[in-house]
Amino acid sequence: MDELYAICRTFEIDDNDARGFTLKKAGGENGEGTPWSIMISRKGSNYYAFENACPHQGKTIDGGGGELMDDEGNFLVCRHHGAQFDLDTGHCFSGPCQGKALTPIKVVVDDGDVCITGVELAEEDGLDLADSDVPEVVITGD
Ligand code: FES
Repeated sequence: MDELYAICRTFEIDDNDARGFTLKKAGGENGEGTPWSIMISRKGSNYYAFENACPHQGKTIDGGGGELMDDEGNFLVCRHHGAQFDLDTGHCFSGPCQGKALTPIKVVVDDGDVCITGVELAEEDGLDLADSDVPEVVITGD
């Protein structure tokens, strides 16, 4: 079984909203890990994670101003040029990269933690959150 990495508590992402996290993937030069930006969005009790790289220009979708999700929380919106992405698949159905897709990441909610799996992360070093916000990376399986 893949390891689970706890990224945040479920209540730390508001309903119909999304939040970006910068993690570190294992490997990279000198084995120091590679910065890796992800986006986790929430609709009710469902959570969705994608690599935070817009297929239009490769920018982080939360890099500009404006809302990250529509009012009903049905789709993600890239802040740069307004591409709209289906929450279930990451498929872009409107905007400059229509027909392309965000890369999905498997999410598991475990005991109140929003976890990702199917990847290998380095230690939590490199997270760009304030110290008080740094999530504890919990490995619950192998
Ligand atoms: S970079 Fe996302 S729509 Fe252009």
